Amino acid sequence: MEYGSLVKEIFAQRETPPLCHVRSYGCQQNVNDGERIAGLLCELGCAVTDDITLADVIILNTCAVRESAEMRVYGNIGELKHLKEQNPSLIIGLCGCMAQEPQTAERIRASYRYVDIIFGTFALKELPRLLYETLTRKGLAVDISERENECPEDIPLVRTDSFKAGVSIMYGCNNFCSYCIVPYVRGRERSRVPERILDEIGELSRNGCKEIMLLGQNVNSYGKGTKENLNFPELLRRIDRTEGDFRVRFMSPHPKDATKELFDVMAQSRKLCRSIHLPLQSGSDRILKAMNRGYTAEKYLDIVNYARSVMPGLSVTTDIIVGFPGETEADFEQTLGIMKSVKFDNIFSFIYSPRKGTKAALMDDPVTYGEKAERMNRLLGLQREITTESYKRFLGRELFVLFDSTYKDGSVCGKSDENINVLVKNDELLIGTMRRVRVTETKGWAVIGEVLP
Ligand code: 5AD
Ligand code: SF4
Repeated sequence: MEYGSLVKEIFAQRETPPLCHVRSYGCQQNVNDGERIAGLLCELGCAVTDDITLADVIILNTCAVRESAEMRVYGNIGELKHLKEQNPSLIIGLCGCMAQEPQTAERIRASYRYVDIIFGTFALKELPRLLYETLTRKGLAVDISERENECPEDIPLVRTDSFKAGVSIMYGCNNFCSYCIVPYVRGRERSRVPERILDEIGELSRNGCKEIMLLGQNVNSYGKGTKENLNFPELLRRIDRTEGDFRVRFMSPHPKDATKELFDVMAQSRKLCRSIHLPLQSGSDRILKAMNRGYTAEKYLDIVNYARSVMPGLSVTTDIIVGFPGETEADFEQTLGIMKSVKFDNIFSFIYSPRKGTKAALMDDPVTYGEKAERMNRLLGLQREITTESYKRFLGRELFVLFDSTYKDGSVCGKSDENINVLVKNDELLIGTMRRVRVTETKGWAVIGEVLP
């Protein structure tokens, strides 16, 4: 019998279905993997619980991009010890990017002996076997082997929301930016076949989904090396022709593969949002070269200028790393300079975190953490000014907003086509709906508005 059926049989012997809880850390693609893991567990007979203390199977789906993400996971594993003591049959699994790093299994074996399963990013489909091993014998079940061309197709998803969804279009990364662990833990690029992507999107649309986020570590490398040779802009054209009333975003593109064709397609499309998240990382050519990014600051500016020439008012957000090894004050000031020229609507900024196995981890890094933190504060201060100023352009305008959450003051929160946070007063019934909103005020990180009839 195959492992799935064996596990199902064991679970079916329980009075009630075992409850599973999957906690995903890190990027949207990881969250999407987490939805697949929950789908697999449900196929095996589990039911999902939001309450970790009630779970019979807990899976921590981890991120390895910075040390802080890993420390959080170790902290959370530590907190699970008492749950295991209360319920010795609890199954604890660790998966995702950090699980793929070889040193993780060693550390878990040595210090967290109550963990039952470790599986890497290539081994989602092995979960039934690993569960079976755990259910039938004690000891850690591990699968962190790399599998070329592995795409987690044919795994059902339990989606967090019905009105917005992530759709993975490609996996892995070939870029080897010198700071980044991703190519080591997610392997080489492989693209899903377009028909599967279009089918998934068609089904989501028929089920009322209003926003689709195309996911990949490097989305605009989509299609490279496949026999169809269908590139990312062509995939977008086909998605745009799909029936249904939904909008489309993608994350993350790489500037070196951001072609004019891509922006032309965005400009002509009906469904693609007028916003782009285009990671810059640094404004210094010297640092960009050491990062192996494959573009200069000037090239990045050219790309943004072209994009805005075909989509006036395009909203651009970015990622920036502060304190890459050898970053001088002058390098850092060039980053501030490009921020002033582009006027990003928002930035996600990170202090450089050395990752074992990457090239940058071996580079000299004379700048102290204190100095890096001080640079980070200056960068955040500048971005606050830019955001405050640039959000004024929305005053009095109508935005299309998909509401998805409540804010602590009771307002309902959503995102506009431009990917701007929009708050409106008190109406929970708005969640999951797309509305026209007139902007009446701006608020630093968001704009405030009124829903139009
Ligand atoms: N240290 C700090 N930030 C990093 N990122 C990736 N690797 C590192 C690292 N080692 C950031 C980049 C990337 C985002 C997802 O995380 O800015 O775009
Ligand atoms: Fe984190 Fe990168 Fe893995 Fe996403 S792909 S979970 S950001 S390490």
